[in-house]
Amino acid sequence: MEVLAILGSPRRGGNTEILLDEAIRGAHDHGGACEKVVLRDLKIRPCLEIYHCAKAGICAIQDDMQPLFGKITEAQRLIIASPIFFYSVSALTKAMIDRCQSLWVKKYVLKLPISAVPDRRGAFISVAATRGKKLFDGVRLTMRYFFDAIDVVYSDELLVRGADEKGAIRERLETLQEAYALGARLVAPRGGAPGS
Ligand SMILES: Cc1cc2nc3c(=O)[nH]c(=O)nc-3n(C[C@H](O)[C@H](O)[C@H](O)COP(=O)(O)O)c2cc1C
Repeated sequence: MEVLAILGSPRRGGNTEILLDEAIRGAHDHGGACEKVVLRDLKIRPCLEIYHCAKAGICAIQDDMQPLFGKITEAQRLIIASPIFFYSVSALTKAMIDRCQSLWVKKYVLKLPISAVPDRRGAFISVAATRGKKLFDGVRLTMRYFFDAIDVVYSDELLVRGADEKGAIRERLETLQEAYALGARLVAPRGGAPGS
C-alpha cells in the first residue's frame, strides 16, 4: 500500500510534522510503504490561471510540482498535514492544492481519468492554536473539494485545537496515539480494523 504523506507546515519539527510522523509510523507498522514530501523544501509557484491545462489537463509551470503531480496521482493513500494559518491551510499547502486545478480540469472539464489506482483514500491532519467551534470549517471544505478533484475519498481527519508552541503536541499522548491510529486505519482493508 503506497502512502504519500505531505507536510504543509513550514516549521520543521513542529506540531504538524510530529503528528504526521506518528501517522506515518502507524501506516508503516501496518503495511504501508510511506513517502514523505516536505513542501517547504520544494519550489512550487502559485497557480497562474493561464489555463494551459484546459488543453490536456497538464500544468505548464515547470517547477517541483511536476514530479509531485505523478506522486499524487499514483498514491493509493494520501495524508495532507497543515497547520491552521488564518483559518485556512498554510500557503505552502494552498499553493500545492491550487496547482491541482489542472487535475480538476482533467476530471471535470476534459472528463479524463485522474489516476489508474482504484479505491484511493486520504486523510487530513491539522493543528491550530485556538479552540473555536468553527476553527476547522474552512479547511474541511478545502480538503473535501481538493480530495474530490484528485479522485481521493476524504476518509479520515485529525483536527487538533490548542497547540501553539513548537513541539507542544508531544505532551499530548492521546493526540499522538490518535495520529498513529489514523495512519493505521488508512492502510487497513476497507471495514477492517487496523492490523487485521
Ligand atoms: C501565519 C500564522 C497564522 C496562524 N493563524 C492561526 C489561526 O488562524 N488560528 C489558530 O488557531 N492558530 C493560528 N496559528 C497558530 C498555528 O496554527 C499553531 O501555532 C500550530 O501549532 C502551528 O503548527 P506547526 O508547529 O506545525 O507549525 C497561526 C500561526 C501562524 C504562523
